[in-house]
Amino acid sequence: MTEHIKIGKQDGVLEITFARPDKKNAFTNAMFRAACEALNAAQTDKETRVVLFAAEGNAFTAGNDLGDFLAVSEGKGEEPQAGAFIEALGRAEKPIVAAVPGIAVGVGTTMLLHSDLVFVADNAKLAAPFVNLALVPEAGSSLLMPARIGYVRAFAMFALGETISGAEAVSLGIANKMLPPDEVLPAARLAAKTLAQKPNGSMIATKKLMRDAESLLAWMDKENVLFAQQLKSAEAREAFCAFAERRAPDFSKLSS
Ligand code: COA
Repeated sequence: MTEHIKIGKQDGVLEITFARPDKKNAFTNAMFRAACEALNAAQTDKETRVVLFAAEGNAFTAGNDLGDFLAVSEGKGEEPQAGAFIEALGRAEKPIVAAVPGIAVGVGTTMLLHSDLVFVADNAKLAAPFVNLALVPEAGSSLLMPARIGYVRAFAMFALGETISGAEAVSLGIANKMLPPDEVLPAARLAAKTLAQKPNGSMIATKKLMRDAESLLAWMDKENVLFAQQLKSAEAREAFCAFAERRAPDFSKLSS
């Protein structure tokens, strides 16, 4: 257990809150484990009909803790636990709602592609700068993002590190609605409660028809191989060191 993930249940909605606001809710391994456990348990819990992801503070999540990534790239520390959480997102049969109060980076953005309803703040910024970190897209995003927003926009996000604003997230079909930050969670809760009152069998069957979970999981396996390879590369180590040292990375002397 970790105090950085809070779990609540009301009106058939399981609310999973990222609660590490001083670090922009960056995910530690303990957070991945707790979120994964809650999401998996929700699938068989008869009282839960909908899962809602929420966050404390002004960020959704800044993605994987880069200190943890640095440790792995140096051959120290525990292997990242993001994979099991991502797989749980891919397998989830019950609807997922996301309330994004501000910035979302890495898995913070890619998990939105697995969410069925998404509410974003008007100051939200979505980023998936995997190449800047010498990594590759994960969570099926190398398949889902181009399909959702078009190849060139997706490539600009992954390779140039371009961000998407709250308004763009709505116009590109990543989010349903953009709202002032303090209205995001209430709107998401209302939508989740409304979903929870619908017929459950029809809801699950509809979600199943709308996404090909098996193909998605197979695609994620391909991503995971390359992600694990890149994570331990010299270029990734340089990117993580640069973040820790608050400087720009220098990849010029590193060849592939
Ligand atoms: N891992 C670990 N710590 C992180 C983090 C991450 N992914 N993202 C933010 N933090 C920490 C910062 O180090 C800082 O800690 P400190 O106060 O002890 O110095 C704190 O959270 C606040 O972040 P800061 O960078 O000062 O806030 P900001 O508003 O200027 O910028 C971000 C916010 C999210 C844009 C910026 O922190 C960032 O780019 N983070 C890295 C995102 C990333 O690349 N994630 C990995 C995706 S795979």
